[in-house]
Amino acid sequence: MLSILVINSKGGSGKTTLSTNLASYYASRKFRTTILDYDPQGSCLQWLRVRPGHACTIHGANAAPPKGASTLHNLQKWVPVGTEVLVIDAPSGTRGLLLQEMVRRSNYIVVPVVPSPIDIHATADFIKDLFHIGGASPNKTKIAVVANRLRSNSPSREALECFLSSLKLPYLTSISDSDNYLRAAGKGLGVFEMDEADTFAERQEYLPILKWLDGQDIYCQMSDVDSKIVNMEESRKFALQRANVKAWHSPILRKAER
Ligand SMILES: Nc1ncnc2c1ncn2[C@@H]1O[C@H](COP(=O)(O)OP(=O)(O)OP(=O)(O)O)[C@@H](O)[C@H]1O
Ligand SMILES: [Mg+2]
Repeated sequence: MLSILVINSKGGSGKTTLSTNLASYYASRKFRTTILDYDPQGSCLQWLRVRPGHACTIHGANAAPPKGASTLHNLQKWVPVGTEVLVIDAPSGTRGLLLQEMVRRSNYIVVPVVPSPIDIHATADFIKDLFHIGGASPNKTKIAVVANRLRSNSPSREALECFLSSLKLPYLTSISDSDNYLRAAGKGLGVFEMDEADTFAERQEYLPILKWLDGQDIYCQMSDVDSKIVNMEESRKFALQRANVKAWHSPILRKAER
């Protein structure tokens, strides 16, 4: 089972948006998909409630721990047998045993970060927690960072570039601040289920993430560039250049094409 944890302790970084779009992508490609919503706000479950009847089924599981509990017991019972893709939406402020629980259940961890000084600072602390408290192993757990809600004129763009280049973690792509994500969320859909012509840019932004989750080394490895500050626009071009759907003949896509 492909198990993807979308997490950042910072609130509003785009965890739920990323989770719903990933789940909708895999479901629309006929993978049996489950969303495990750990957030007491239940945003993913709410998204599922407005999902139209004709859209491919996604199982929603409420994994929010009961009030006062530090971990969730018997989590497995919430995930239907036969689930092929599990997307775990983490709440903000996740730490301690709950963080360990989520990390243990995932084979891929995606950390969205918004380019603002406060978010960057909080994310740096969180990534430390992820390794030290969460138990993520740099050798075993696959972790990558995604820049979210990027605008060309974002004032903290440079700070984000510095941060990403210092992380020594794969940086996959930058996701733009786009109303299409809001439109899709409002309909219970993901951008891969919206009109293709209208959402071409958003689909391209997601492809590097999907390829990485498919085991492909398509990301910018920050450690390769050492002290050099990576230009976000170059990274973006790099990601887009390689994001050619037709040339992507992975097993997961072959299944999608059947
Ligand atoms: N790329 C984007 N473009 C435009 N709006 C976005 C984008 N990503 C997220 N948003 C919006 O930003 C807000 C926060 O996003 P989201 O709920 O996904 O964050 P979160 O990390 O799950 O928040 P929380 O920590 O509260 O769970 C939402 O209104 C969402 O629609
Ligand atoms: Mg959320």
